[in-house]
Amino acid sequence: MMSQWKKAWRLLPLLAVVMLALTGCSQDPFLTALDPKGPVAAQQLSLIKLSLSIMIGVFTVVMVIYVYVLLRFRKRPGQTGIPEQIEGNHKLEIIWTVIPLILVTILAVPTVSQTFHLAEKHSSEEAVQVKVIAHQFWWEFEYTDLGISTGQDLYIPTGQKIQFQLASQDVIHAFWVPTLGGKTDTNPGMINNMWLQADVPGVYKGKCAELCGPSHALMDFKVIAVEPAEFDDWVAKMKTPQTVAVEHQAGEEVFKQSCIGCHAVDGTKGLKVPDVAPNLSNFGDREVLAGYIEKNDANLAQWIKDPVSLKPGNLMPAFGHLDDQQVDALVGYLNSLKVQ
Ligand code: CUA
Repeated sequence: MMSQWKKAWRLLPLLAVVMLALTGCSQDPFLTALDPKGPVAAQQLSLIKLSLSIMIGVFTVVMVIYVYVLLRFRKRPGQTGIPEQIEGNHKLEIIWTVIPLILVTILAVPTVSQTFHLAEKHSSEEAVQVKVIAHQFWWEFEYTDLGISTGQDLYIPTGQKIQFQLASQDVIHAFWVPTLGGKTDTNPGMINNMWLQADVPGVYKGKCAELCGPSHALMDFKVIAVEPAEFDDWVAKMKTPQTVAVEHQAGEEVFKQSCIGCHAVDGTKGLKVPDVAPNLSNFGDREVLAGYIEKNDANLAQWIKDPVSLKPGNLMPAFGHLDDQQVDALVGYLNSLKVQ
């Protein structure tokens, strides 16, 4: 019995290696720092490559010396007693102190200079200003110079710097868009600065990278990078009040009775004061619900009736008292809120 256990334990290192290899598997091509789509992510990847190559170099040299010493000084047949004992070697000690110092300097110079470069603050002339307010468990984006506010989907123009002011409304979260760069903490009571830029149009997935509560892993958002002309068009539409089609007026009534106390449906609302709940002015354009759930009528209805069942710990109250007809009308109205 005991020996069986010993054999089983020997499999552990193998399992560890397999597990390590499997962590490299991902079905999500958007969520990688190894495929940069902008200058910040590209710089950060070059730092990753530099530190990785130094580490691999050190590891290789140490392993070669280790194996050489193991073979060269092994106990040979006929050898008795302990070998000659040597203590202290100034030349060697200086060498193995100086080499790491040189390596750390090679690593530190670009790291420190890039850290300051990426924390530079760009003015309104140089960059689009976006204030990010993290909430349990969603993201609010205020375009402070453009006078609009949105949630979950961050639209940005390509080829331009986006200057972020990162804040939090409750606990510590972290703002991270792996393909564009990051990550930086959002702390209650203070503002952190960082900038990002997307070179090509695309949808880049963002994550909260700081454990912030039961739905930390579900606190996803999207960065939607579009050509500058398309971005200007989007901003103009966000500022234009929407007309509600006749067939959605019943849904709008339900919304006004149940939801409007927390959710704005006007893109220009919510500036200066943090929103209580996500601004829904372009809800119909969003591809996912609550950051991660497939968006269809059934899921949206479930979200309205029992949001905590889909996103544990979130602060939206359940609207289980609405009847099916009211929920259907509300779902139709919400899906009709589009600016694209
Ligand atoms: Cu917010 Cu983790």
